[in-house]
Amino acid sequence: MERKRGLFSRKSIEALTNEASDNEKSLKRVLAPSGLVSLGIGGIIGAGIFVLTGQAAAQYAGPAIVLSFIVSGLVCIFAGLCYAELASMIPVAGSAYTYSYATLGELFAWIIGWDLILEYLFGAATVAVGWSGYVVSFLRDYGVIIPAYLSSAPLIHDPIAGWQLTGALINLPAVLIVGSVTALLVVGIRESSLFNNAIVVLKLSVLLLFVGFGIYYIDPANWRPFIPENTGEFGYFGWSGILRGAGVVFFAYIGFDAVSTAAQEAKNPQKDMPIGILGSLAIATVLYVIVAAVLTGMVSYKELNVPDPIAVGIDRAGEGMLWLKSLVKIGAIAGLSSVILVLLLGQSRVFFSMASDGLLPERFSAVHRVFRTPYLTTIVSGGAAMLVAGLFPIGLLGELVSIGTLLAFVIVCVGVVALRYRRPELPRNFRTPFVPLVPALGAGIALLQMAALPMDTILRLVVWMAIGLGVYFFYGRKHSKIG
Ligand code: ALA
Repeated sequence: MERKRGLFSRKSIEALTNEASDNEKSLKRVLAPSGLVSLGIGGIIGAGIFVLTGQAAAQYAGPAIVLSFIVSGLVCIFAGLCYAELASMIPVAGSAYTYSYATLGELFAWIIGWDLILEYLFGAATVAVGWSGYVVSFLRDYGVIIPAYLSSAPLIHDPIAGWQLTGALINLPAVLIVGSVTALLVVGIRESSLFNNAIVVLKLSVLLLFVGFGIYYIDPANWRPFIPENTGEFGYFGWSGILRGAGVVFFAYIGFDAVSTAAQEAKNPQKDMPIGILGSLAIATVLYVIVAAVLTGMVSYKELNVPDPIAVGIDRAGEGMLWLKSLVKIGAIAGLSSVILVLLLGQSRVFFSMASDGLLPERFSAVHRVFRTPYLTTIVSGGAAMLVAGLFPIGLLGELVSIGTLLAFVIVCVGVVALRYRRPELPRNFRTPFVPLVPALGAGIALLQMAALPMDTILRLVVWMAIGLGVYFFYGRKHSKIG
């Protein structure tokens, strides 16, 4: 470690890499490039495409939701290129947290570590709430009714009335899925990866079948006008609607960066991290654009403001595609569970790195003797996500996840430039092209997207960060190993 003390002390890349190979703390290196790409797809494709596409098309962009996916995908590709460079240089479990420790110093590392809780832990909880909604509606189709007081949030927040009780007890399905996924993550990375691979095959097949058959039911009239005229209000159709749609479907891309948290479990992280991150992102982007185009070609966008837009597309196709309807629901339910898995994997690895550095209690960095997983941080992450998923509604959580992720993107993009400047000599297995243009675009657009989110969400981020700084000065700063 570098001996500079204080808020901006940095860890050297050499120290980070040495720590990662410490036997006591070593995780199992089982992930090959295909496993990493699959992990990325497992984490990316979920509620975004299965739920939000329809709502964003119906409310903001119309058929031009296709362009929203391209815009949002571009931002993620800029950030993904920066993640790929850092992940290939600093192949350690903490992802953006660790990169910041090496580039911007301890305070920034803490800030980003605390911020990543919003992306991974709250992200897993958000998707678990979406999962619960899908399962409840699927079971209802088969006559099994789960009462609302056991399947919805007991707390809601209204901008005018503030926090209110809904009368519900707990969102039980959401709690149960997070609990099951946590147990799997404790048992092993190999088992988790196999489960994820099986789901990835299922959800990709379902989406490809939808595209392959749906293409025959496209009525080009549904694409006219491709960009519906703006209603006079910013964000409702027209070009501004495309931008607002891009903000909404951004959620669909969240998760590719979680690949980088598995660096200590990759067989050859320096070479394979960029493949995992960029490969999964590219596959998801192409698939999203095609699915969105086919869906809005099959049904008028006006009919898509529903929680299960792909099923509505199938309904419109009539008899010819009905066989696919249950499969789509099963694909969505399974698909959402792998997103929860990958996001929780990310969270537990970030906590693991923070605990190893002393910023969180060090005993949490223990690795299980048999399973070789960071089981304590996995249980803490899973337990907290269960609580959040059981108590809060999806809308509130989703926006926090987006703003938290965007902030991480900004810091990672800045980190690439900082490290090129400070340590130009270090070997880079992957180099972000056109530095500083690509990182500047990545950070700049992410900042714009943050600014476009509702003021309430920005304030919640500020409050969350203020709590985090309190914890840092009260605990982390005193116990930090580097200090
Ligand atoms: N990208 C993930 C999803 O859409 C978070 O569910």
